[in-house]
Amino acid sequence: MKIDGRPYRTIFLDGDDVTVIDQTRLPFAFELKRLANLDDAAVAIRTMVVRGAPLIGVTAAYGMALAMRQDASEAGIERASATLAATRPTAINLRWALDRMASVLRRAPEAARAALAFTEAASIADEDVASCRAIGEHGAKILSEIAAKKGGPVNVLTHCNAGWLATVDWGTALAPIYVAHDAGVPVHVFVDETRPRNQGAALTAFELNAHGVPHTVIADNAGGHLMQHGQVDLCIVGSDRTTASGDVCNKIGTYLKALAATDNRIPFYAALPFSTIDWTLSDGVRDIPIEERDAREVTHLTGRTDEGAFATIAVVSPGSPVANPAFDVTPARLVTGIITERGVCDASEAGLTRLYPERRRAA
Ligand code: MRU
Repeated sequence: MKIDGRPYRTIFLDGDDVTVIDQTRLPFAFELKRLANLDDAAVAIRTMVVRGAPLIGVTAAYGMALAMRQDASEAGIERASATLAATRPTAINLRWALDRMASVLRRAPEAARAALAFTEAASIADEDVASCRAIGEHGAKILSEIAAKKGGPVNVLTHCNAGWLATVDWGTALAPIYVAHDAGVPVHVFVDETRPRNQGAALTAFELNAHGVPHTVIADNAGGHLMQHGQVDLCIVGSDRTTASGDVCNKIGTYLKALAATDNRIPFYAALPFSTIDWTLSDGVRDIPIEERDAREVTHLTGRTDEGAFATIAVVSPGSPVANPAFDVTPARLVTGIITERGVCDASEAGLTRLYPERRRAA
């Protein structure tokens, strides 16, 4: 995607340096950050300098590569993998990328591992771009069908940020919107602000602004009302982990939107690449680990004052206990379909294995 006319990926090599966009500074400052070693990569993921399931996976892959420059022994692979795996628990793309890196590295002689790790991380990044672009193509068909039937702009509601900032490029939930918009399909996006960290208000709105896509930021609690009043044609969200049975784990608040969509007979889609599917799980509500984040994300807000300074203010009555679960699980029965790089399927084991027959369990 372009910023001020210049194409960017969210993570790239600048010479020997791994460079990322610092998402904690958006939308008010566009700053790049250099990741020099394993610890830098782990801190960037933990503190959400980079975030979004696919980008977390790619950053972890580059983190492994950086670690191999220091220590490419078996113990080094083990240590790097454990350090990165401990950064955030919910997005399965992290585990997926680490397992792929470790298995490639273990097959190579120690002296070749650092170079090989950078090549493999670059492949994971390139594959992510291709997958997201394909998700965009498949999802855009849904949008253009609705636009044709309706004869006017398609109103999409999305939650959190599942755009290019959450991936390497294009995004998952936003990719169909970009592809449709670029093809001339009229699209308007309702952007949930996504408390507590405001990924919608800060990041999705930033992306849509930069790309010229018409959109409106709404308070998290407004979506149900808009759906009741016919202002939403469909919802598209991303996912941090989707089970083999089609349960979709995504940013906290997604489940409530799916309930409201179902009550109002509005299609509710999740868009995700294969690296987000956890084939080992079938009951998402029971089995997906939900990250509990710092209470300060709920008690405080950071933004920019009218004078242009960054400021953090408290918004919760001092002393009140606070809980901050970062994700929830939308059961498959509330999901109309899953948009993947291989096409659109039912949110079910049968649907997913139709697209990924290699994952079909032996009877
Ligand atoms: O806590 P975050 O900002 O990493 O959460 C991100 C989300 O929930 C996204 O919707 C999800 O990772 C899909 S990104 C394509």
